[in-house]
Amino acid sequence: MALAACAPRLVKPPVWPTTPAVRATADHDGRWAEALHYARWTPSPHNMQPWRLRLLNAWQAELCCDPDRQLPNTDPQSAFTMVTLSMFAEHLAIAFAAQGYALSAEFVDAPIDYTVRAPVLVAMLSLEPLPKRLDARARRSALCERQTSRLPYDGSCVHNEVLETIQRRSATEGHQFGWTHDRAQVRAGIAINRDAVFADMDSEVARTELRRWIRPSDQQAQATNDGLWSRCMHFPGWLLRDFFDNHRAWQHGARAALGKRLLTHGMRGTRTLAWWSGPFVTPADWVRAGRVFAHAWLLLSEAGVHLHPFGSVVTNPDAHQRFLSMLGPSRPANTMWLLARMGYSDQPPRSLRIPTSAIFLNDTEQFS
Ligand SMILES: Cc1cc2nc3c(=O)[nH]c(=O)nc-3n(C[C@H](O)[C@H](O)[C@H](O)COP(=O)(O)O)c2cc1C
Repeated sequence: MALAACAPRLVKPPVWPTTPAVRATADHDGRWAEALHYARWTPSPHNMQPWRLRLLNAWQAELCCDPDRQLPNTDPQSAFTMVTLSMFAEHLAIAFAAQGYALSAEFVDAPIDYTVRAPVLVAMLSLEPLPKRLDARARRSALCERQTSRLPYDGSCVHNEVLETIQRRSATEGHQFGWTHDRAQVRAGIAINRDAVFADMDSEVARTELRRWIRPSDQQAQATNDGLWSRCMHFPGWLLRDFFDNHRAWQHGARAALGKRLLTHGMRGTRTLAWWSGPFVTPADWVRAGRVFAHAWLLLSEAGVHLHPFGSVVTNPDAHQRFLSMLGPSRPANTMWLLARMGYSDQPPRSLRIPTSAIFLNDTEQFS
């Protein structure tokens, strides 16, 4: 049976309100819990969901990074963790707008300090009353509908009008957005990503860090509500487990060839690769990039377009260079900080999320 055929049906998040038990004490009227109920569907690398909230009062909270949900070896500068935390703040603002509040986020101008074994302050969040807008609820629903699709795509190019909208929107934040529908370039980009994924996993340090987030069985995924569930990865769980736990066998020969073929075959029907580029050096740059990516992904999702980031091509220096050389004159002039395949696919299995109540910080909590 094809893996996609046994995927669970899409389960929509339950309609608010949930029970008062999920509300943190400072959240008298449950406004933060309600907004988190939607914002927790923010995408994050490996679905690690690094966000935690310390409520100061009904109007203010600290956004923190969970010390047990970090990638010190594979995101040493914390750039992509800052990107996802910035996306989370954007999603939270969209959720609050539907409740009649404007959320502002003031980010700390520093990378995440991985040596601190306690929640690290990332941004101060504050609320103000805002007149409710009619379209705010529809925008909030989009937060729960956006998904990563690692399924095959349907063989058509993403419509240029959609991509041009993303391009204009990204430009308002000083970022460039480019794409290709060229068959040879798309094929080459997928091959570069495949080689980079395999090359990255040859590093024991990187493999060990990623292994923590691999959920090869339904039981494991449902026990933690985080990480990369084999169903969402579109790979059989046994294969994913064996790839990590018996890696030597997958480095060469028939198994390496099989793994690479499966990865490429799973991306059939892709006709568009797209990338963002722009300033990506300082924490403020990462926050701005997160804002750009959050709104772009939601716009794409609203237009029925799915995407699948190719993180390894961005972070692996050889793959990055190979990809830019392959693009030739259409290569971006600035730093490429995100590359993805995009297209139209079936509904992918929904990745899981930790419950709203677990996002609130409890100051008696112990971290490893
Ligand atoms: C900054 C960032 C980088 C990501 N990089 C990758 C990647 O390299 N490969 C991949 O398959 N998914 C990548 N993802 C997608 C996440 O794995 C995905 O968002 C997460 O598993 C939750 O699933 P969902 O998007 O379907 O809700 C990335 C997401 C973000 C926000």
